Amino acid sequence: MTVKNKVLNILESKKGKYISGQDLADLLMVSRTAVWKAINSLKDEGYPISSVPNKGYILSPDSDILSSEGIRLYLKEEFKNIPITFYKSIESTNSEAKLAAVKKARHGTVIVAEEQTKGRGRFGRNFFSPPESGIYMSIILKPNLKIENSVLITTAAAVAVCQAIEKLTNKEPKIKWVNDIFIDNRKVCGILTEAVTDFESGMMDSVIVGIGVNVKTEKEIFPQELQDTAGSVLNDKDSSLRNPLAGEIINNLLTISEKLEDREFLKEYKERSMILNEHILYKKDNSWHEGYALDIDDYGGLVIFTSEGEQTTLNSGEVSIKKK
Ligand code: BTN
Repeated sequence: MTVKNKVLNILESKKGKYISGQDLADLLMVSRTAVWKAINSLKDEGYPISSVPNKGYILSPDSDILSSEGIRLYLKEEFKNIPITFYKSIESTNSEAKLAAVKKARHGTVIVAEEQTKGRGRFGRNFFSPPESGIYMSIILKPNLKIENSVLITTAAAVAVCQAIEKLTNKEPKIKWVNDIFIDNRKVCGILTEAVTDFESGMMDSVIVGIGVNVKTEKEIFPQELQDTAGSVLNDKDSSLRNPLAGEIINNLLTISEKLEDREFLKEYKERSMILNEHILYKKDNSWHEGYALDIDDYGGLVIFTSEGEQTTLNSGEVSIKKK
């Protein structure tokens, strides 16, 4: 880790409190000049750091600059050393993560960005990813799963995000099958899971879990077509939740992914479901049909009653709650 990252690490952990240049230099066993250079470089990158004579340096308590070191601070001890690569702007963290997976990136590798210029959603849609608003990240997993269990990763990721939001805010997120997360009937998070297969063995090599959270995206900046459906976790654009929330999501996902096959998280997934026991519309063969959502099965499939009175299971696709 560079001196700059080490300084940032300490300032983040003491956010809102002063620390002297000498204490920083002593802690890091470097010269005061090295500390001074690191601070200047962080300021140039936009970190709100002030220096006050006789007190030292302070990172503003409102600082919400997303960074790998900022996120790392909130990781559990067992995950502290995962590789995290941060981009100020990137086309899509999922596309970047796929390239990294092909180059044999290890389990738990994270690619995260302040902004995506070609963020991808499900069904070939775009995912709106403006700067200073959200968390756009992809986590590479090597879950050692039978292929029929791979859908469980998608459902597990939805639970991991909900748990993290609920822990850090007072909100109670709900899940719309398969993995859209809603607060107050507005979508605040989407998840795009993509598999990378090994061409030689034909086996699933890695799974990329791409998570986009609107943390504090202002209502007015959503594109027109999202105005009625999209929302944010918080309404406060001055909040500083992004690093802790990203860290907590990673902690939860890596923890759940260690024991996916015991399916414990499915109970919570069902409890948070917005569609169970509701009349729904589901898309099949490119047209919408009516049905009733009965259950989520052990593979994350949605068990429904069709309007013809038959029971069937949907394994992927789109659903919405039928308006009364
Ligand atoms: C959806 O709502 O349809 C899924 C959206 C997934 C968005 C995330 S943001 C990080 C990662 N990179 C992408 O290009 N997409 C996912």
